[in-house]
Amino acid sequence: MAEMGQPKPLHQHHHLVLLATVLAIMACTAAGEEGNGKPLVTAITKDGSTRLYSFPVIKNGSPLVLDLSGPIIWSTCPDSSAHDTIDCNSPACMRAHRYHPPNCPHTGYGQPDAPRNPYRCKCTAHPHNPLGSNSGGSTPQSGQDLTRVALSANATDGNNPLSPPVAFTAVASCAPESLLEGLPEGSVGVAGLGRSALSLPAQVGKAQGVCNKFALCLPSGSASGNLGVAIFGGGPLSLLPMVGTDLTASLAGETPLVKYKECPGYYVKATAGIAVNQAQVVLPLDDGKDGCGPLVVGFSTTAPYTELRSDVYRAFIKAFDAATSGIPRLPSPTSGPKFELCYESAKLGSTRLGYAVPQVDVMLDGGKNWTVFGGNSMAQVDDRTACLAFVEMAEGKATYGGGGEAAAPAVVIGGFQMENNLVVFDEEEQRLGFSGLLWGRRTTCSNFNFTMAAV
Ligand SMILES: *[C@@H]1O[C@H](CO)[C@@H](O)[C@H](O)[C@H]1NC(C)=O
Ligand SMILES: *[C@@H]1O[C@H](CO)[C@@H](O)[C@H](O)[C@H]1NC(C)=O
Ligand SMILES: *[C@@H]1O[C@H](CO)[C@@H](O)[C@H](O)[C@H]1NC(C)=O
Repeated sequence: MAEMGQPKPLHQHHHLVLLATVLAIMACTAAGEEGNGKPLVTAITKDGSTRLYSFPVIKNGSPLVLDLSGPIIWSTCPDSSAHDTIDCNSPACMRAHRYHPPNCPHTGYGQPDAPRNPYRCKCTAHPHNPLGSNSGGSTPQSGQDLTRVALSANATDGNNPLSPPVAFTAVASCAPESLLEGLPEGSVGVAGLGRSALSLPAQVGKAQGVCNKFALCLPSGSASGNLGVAIFGGGPLSLLPMVGTDLTASLAGETPLVKYKECPGYYVKATAGIAVNQAQVVLPLDDGKDGCGPLVVGFSTTAPYTELRSDVYRAFIKAFDAATSGIPRLPSPTSGPKFELCYESAKLGSTRLGYAVPQVDVMLDGGKNWTVFGGNSMAQVDDRTACLAFVEMAEGKATYGGGGEAAAPAVVIGGFQMENNLVVFDEEEQRLGFSGLLWGRRTTCSNFNFTMAAV
């Protein structure tokens, strides 16, 4: 009986797989309300003084700062009656309140829409400066109108931008000018890229009928013309000189994304820990500090350098110090980021992947290593000095949902360590894919061909 019955469940199983596949494809390509189903591309610039990354997605070309951990888009709005407001009982308002910034009082969903219509409740949101109040940014704002902003970007075939540009509206929070404190000059707000319904990739996905995922390739310098690239919809993406080679195709995304507390950011686990020069660093793992046992690793475009929680930082520095004991040292810079290990750069050999220093492997669940070679580990701080560009995380760093008290993840991979590394954040599949340092493939993140494709 059982034997005879076998083919049927198998058959049904195939149908289920097919159905699931069709649904997954539909979720990415048919959900668009008005979009043309093509991914959107935008150039990314790095600001030399703040070390933050921006892209010009506001329709008038004004830039927004990228925030991988941000749940919403916010920008300065035209005054009072010049911008739209949104009903308190709309789904957009619920979504805007899904994640609550640290150190911010709860003040309800909205307030009377006076003087327009005092009987209507207009939705207000809590835009948050990702630098936080202790890094120059101001405290989160409550009671800012939720509104709609006009955005624009070019569609792409993966090789070039396509004309004409695509314009669409997105739900965003207004913010006062004061919330721009500490952000690059000229930027008008922040684009939250997090795992929320109102993040930029989620809203592009809906508007454009593409997957809720994006490919991020951060540029390494702030010289003009040094443009990185982001593709909403996740790909394809080619970089010169490999015209027509989709680099995202090989990023199967073997690393599962995990949730970390109530944070809207991207996190993965590194159960196997960290290795320096192929030797595992002995870490104080089960200290219960992040309540999850294995190391939790986050990603941040607003942390210029990778931050390690104090306990992890000490063990890591000790291991790197020992592994580089033969290399002449120089004093740490007296200003700027607090780098502890600095070397005479002329005495560091160089390779295709940067200075010949011990490689750092963050051994991620799923079997892939986030490997940091010299090109992503050593920052040239002056003509003679290169320093290990990892810093100790500030104690009690506030995170979303943590009320400011939450224990931070063990590792937050910062901008410098993501530069020239193509990373695909795939909320649809809840996976992360990454290329590793692109110098190994003889290209960089600044090699997207931004010339409009000939029509
Ligand atoms: C579209 O691409 C062209 C060529 O790179 C660029 O000049 C233009 O600013 C882009 N448009 C938008 C909306 O990003
Ligand atoms: C990851 O790094 C460790 C330590 O360097 C190494 O032993 C292991 O082979 C690496 N795994 C992969 C898949 O490269
Ligand atoms: C960039 O794209 C344009 C338009 O397709 C093309 O004419 C040009 O040759 C490309 N540049 C390079 C260096 O391949």
